[in-house]
Amino acid sequence: MRFVSKLPDVGTTIFTVMSQLAAEHGAINLSQGFPDFPCAPALLDAASSAMQAGHNQYAPMAGLPALRQALAAKLLASQQIPVDPETEITITAGATQALFTAIAAVLHAGDEAILLDPSYDSYAPAIRAQGATPVRLNLSAPTFAIDWAAVEAAVTPRTRLIIVNNPNNPATSVFSNSDLDALAAIVEHHDLLVLADEVYEHLVYDGITHRSVLSHPALRARSFAVYSFGKTFHATGWKVGYCVAPPLLSAEFRKVHQFLVFSVNTPMQHALAHHLAQPVHWQQLSAFYQAKRDRLANGLTAVGFRLQPSQSTYFQLADFTTIRDDLSDVEFARWLTLEHGVASIPVSAFYGDGRDDRLVRFCFAKRDDTIDSALARLAKLAN
Ligand SMILES: Cc1ncc(COP(=O)(O)O)c(C=O)c1O
Repeated sequence: MRFVSKLPDVGTTIFTVMSQLAAEHGAINLSQGFPDFPCAPALLDAASSAMQAGHNQYAPMAGLPALRQALAAKLLASQQIPVDPETEITITAGATQALFTAIAAVLHAGDEAILLDPSYDSYAPAIRAQGATPVRLNLSAPTFAIDWAAVEAAVTPRTRLIIVNNPNNPATSVFSNSDLDALAAIVEHHDLLVLADEVYEHLVYDGITHRSVLSHPALRARSFAVYSFGKTFHATGWKVGYCVAPPLLSAEFRKVHQFLVFSVNTPMQHALAHHLAQPVHWQQLSAFYQAKRDRLANGLTAVGFRLQPSQSTYFQLADFTTIRDDLSDVEFARWLTLEHGVASIPVSAFYGDGRDDRLVRFCFAKRDDTIDSALARLAKLAN
C-alpha cells in the first residue's frame, strides 16, 4: 500500500516521552502538566449524581444550555464581558479539540497561520493537517516579549490567522494592554482572525491581571477564545473545554465541531454547570498555585538553578547552565530524570526550529509533598 503521510515528521510528543521515561526510572514526574491532587469532592459528587439521574445520552451539539449559561454568567460577573450563550459559546472535548476545530474552520489549503514559539505542540500539526502552513516566529528568553513589528512583517496575502497563547505555556509571560492593542491593530489592518488559547486564564501571580481578547472590542469581533475546565478544576482527564467567538465565527466553528465530535460528555457537562454555580473556586486558584510556585522556585534556586519568577500557568522555567553547562536541554532533562529522579520538559520542544535556550520546564501542579520529595532528590545538585 502506498500511503503519503500528511504529518510525516510527527512522532510521539515530548510529554509522552518524558512521562514514560519518568515511569520507567521511578522518577518524580514534574514534566507533563497535570495535577497529582484530586479535584473537588463536590465536583465528583455532581458527576456521579448526573450519571445516576440518567444524564447519559447525547448532549446538545453546542453544549448543555445550563453550562453555557453558567459560563456566560461567569464571564459577565468576573470580567464584565457580555456573551450570548446561545450563539457564542460551544462546549468542546477539551481545549485541544477547540483549537483544532477553530483551525479547521478557518484555514483553507494554502493559507498561512502565524505562531509565536515557544508554542503548545498541537497548533502546528493542526494547521498542517488543513494543507495550510504555520509561519513560526521565535520569542526569546528571558522575557519572551513579542516584537509586534516582526509579527506584522510576517503577514503575507495568504495569512488568515494569528494564534496566541496568553498566559503562555511554557514562557509564563502574560499579555499587557499594549500587546492586545498591537495585536488588534495588525488583525484589523490585514483583516485577519485570532485564535487565543487562554486555558491558563486563572493561573496568574503576583497581582498580574489576565487580559482576555474578549475584553478588547476589536479583538472580540475577530477572535476564537479557548478555555479548559481541566486546568481550572484540576480535572485534565475529563477533557472538557469551550470556545467563545462571535456568532458568525461560532457558526462556522460548529459546522466542524458537529462532525468532529458532535457533542461532549453529558454527565460531566451537568457536573460542571452545577459546580460553576457554587462559590467561586477559580478566585482561589492564583493564591493556591502561587504558594506552590514559591515552594518549588525557592527549592530550585537553593540547588543552583537560575530562575525567572513564573508569572502564570503552573510551570516554572529553569536555566540549568550553572549546574551542567555541557548539555543541551534535551540531554539535561534526560540526565536529570535518570541520575536524579526528577522529570522535566526541555523547552526546545516548543520551538519549530528546536531553539535551545538551555531551559527546562517544571510543573508545580503537584502536592506539596511531591514538590518536597523532588527537591530532596535535587539537593545533591547543590553539593
Ligand atoms: C497552552 C495549552 N493549550 C491547550 C492545552 C490543552 O488543554 P485540554 O487538556 O483541555 O485539551 C494545554 C494543556 O496542557 C495547554 O498547555
